[in-house]
Amino acid sequence: MEEIKQQLAADLAAAKSAADIENIRIKYLGKKGLVTNAAKSANFGAMSVEEKKQFGQKLNDLKNFATESIAQAAEKAKSAAPAKKKNAIDLTMPGEPSTIGSLHPVTLVQMELESIFQGMGFMVYTGPECEEEFFNFDAVNIPSDHPAREMQDTYWMTNGRLMRTHTSANQVRTMRKFGAPLKAIFPGRCFRNEATDACHENTFYQCEGLMIDKNISVANLIAVMKTALSEIFRRDVKVRLRPGFFPFVEPGFELDLNCLICGGEGCPTCKNSGWLELIPCGLVHPNVLRFGGIDPEEYSGFAFGVGLTRLAMMKYGIRDIRLLNDGDCRFLQQFPVIV
Ligand code: DAH
Repeated sequence: MEEIKQQLAADLAAAKSAADIENIRIKYLGKKGLVTNAAKSANFGAMSVEEKKQFGQKLNDLKNFATESIAQAAEKAKSAAPAKKKNAIDLTMPGEPSTIGSLHPVTLVQMELESIFQGMGFMVYTGPECEEEFFNFDAVNIPSDHPAREMQDTYWMTNGRLMRTHTSANQVRTMRKFGAPLKAIFPGRCFRNEATDACHENTFYQCEGLMIDKNISVANLIAVMKTALSEIFRRDVKVRLRPGFFPFVEPGFELDLNCLICGGEGCPTCKNSGWLELIPCGLVHPNVLRFGGIDPEEYSGFAFGVGLTRLAMMKYGIRDIRLLNDGDCRFLQQFPVIV
């Protein structure tokens, strides 16, 4: 047993790695190990009671010594090892999941509209949110006694400017800048001094459209609207025009969309009418063309004003407009991530 002890000490001193130590453990304490065998091979029959006691004691000491010294050596090898491991890169480890933001539903709809209209040759122009009274009102044929100009509707700046109440403000801006022919959309944020509820916000998004060329008629307006709406809703849509009044168009229309939910049969979404009132539009009023420096005898055009916020609400089934400005991540994270 003394020999075994010495041999074990020598083996442990020579061990270089945790694997070496594991082999030593098997060599001494394994089922057929040297310590185990020492117990098995003892001839207990030939021993006196006293001898058995002494032998047993020594065997226990040996076992304890072997177990402890091997455990200590293994511990030492383990704490020495990390220095080597720390710098090692394990290429098989799964990566950390990365968190990516999502795009706002209005941004998604705006991006989609921009790409649809760019595909039809329209340019995208945004214009200023803080606008001159002239472009927002006078230039689009809204006279100074129009109720929209009153304090309760419009946010006026102390310098006489205002926060644009509609993206139509860009009509004459772009006519003056680019002249005719002109095909453009103006997506952007608009502001109205309104009390807020589930359907009203003081800050919302519109996308105005304008097309001016020779011989533009209502047929062009319908064709462009149908194409754009079919792409947005990813199906063939039916539209109809009803007369509507807006100072900057003549004739003016309300463009209705055949209800997407019931297909025209009548349902709660379309209030049983089979139609959804969607886009106000019309042929550009000659006065507006004149303000833009374009001769109404030579050119004509159509204009439309899409409620981008409303379109996003329809497309994604959002019931409260206030969710769109809240910045609540639980709401925002539900929209697709584009990478
Ligand atoms: N600017 C109008 C609004 O904010 C919407 C509108 C109506 C725009 C008719 C148009 C149009 O271009 O032709 O209520």
